[in-house]
Amino acid sequence: MMESVKHESDSFFADLKVGVVIPAAGSGQRMGGRSKQFLQLAGLPVLKHVLNMFKNRSWVIDIVVSLPQAQYEEPPEWLSEEPEVRTVLGGASRRDSVWNAIQTFSDDLDLILVHDGARPLTPQKTILDCVNLAANGFGAVAGVRVVDTLKKTDNADRVLGTQEREDLWRAQTPQVFPYTVLLDAYQKAIQNNLDASDDSIIVEKVGGQVRMVESSPLNFKVTVPADLDFAEAVLNYYRSRTG
Ligand code: CTP
Ligand code: MG
Repeated sequence: MMESVKHESDSFFADLKVGVVIPAAGSGQRMGGRSKQFLQLAGLPVLKHVLNMFKNRSWVIDIVVSLPQAQYEEPPEWLSEEPEVRTVLGGASRRDSVWNAIQTFSDDLDLILVHDGARPLTPQKTILDCVNLAANGFGAVAGVRVVDTLKKTDNADRVLGTQEREDLWRAQTPQVFPYTVLLDAYQKAIQNNLDASDDSIIVEKVGGQVRMVESSPLNFKVTVPADLDFAEAVLNYYRSRTG
């Protein structure tokens, strides 16, 4: 498709100023109470893989990572060695962690890109597709279409019915928004005590226009212990393909 060719490299966004937020202040309850963003994946912390995805991009002018208290007070050495990365103290919820970060941005940004600190395998194309859509004024959410049949159950796992899956997506990150759109939406969410598991919900609630960007199932979030083995296998697969 001719349309997608234009923004297939970073240089297409030479004039854009994007601030990147990496919420990484979670405690990994589904990982057995381990902050998975600091666990090793193929010899590097998961969060380091994430930071590497946003380094050396001309359009990334600021990167802020929200951290748990312990790592905020005493950052691991590999993180202190990242001169272009700022840190803030995270909050009790993901929403608070993102909010603490976006308040520290300078107001000359065009866009804010939010990406989970536990999602290390995002394709380059997904990142650039999301930035491109947001540069055109929309909220952009990476995701994949639901492929399995969806069952609705009661609390004893009895099937009550089958959900239409057409038009349903699983939302991932990156999620990218015009700077003022995300800032204003977060301000209202904080005022109104609206919590949300992702950033798009917060923009949707104030009537913002959000569109999905088709990504890959390999852009999954490390969530349960088996995901680390899976992520390592995916990395090996990518490495074998690029030689
Ligand atoms: N996150 C955060 N601040 C919080 C909670 C979550 O910055 N108070 C971050 C996580 O570190 C992660 C991303 O938001 O990078 C997505 O959250 P999730 O996968 O839910 O991570 P955890 O909350 O750590 O995991 P769990 O829900 O299993 O406890
Ligand atoms: Mg969580």
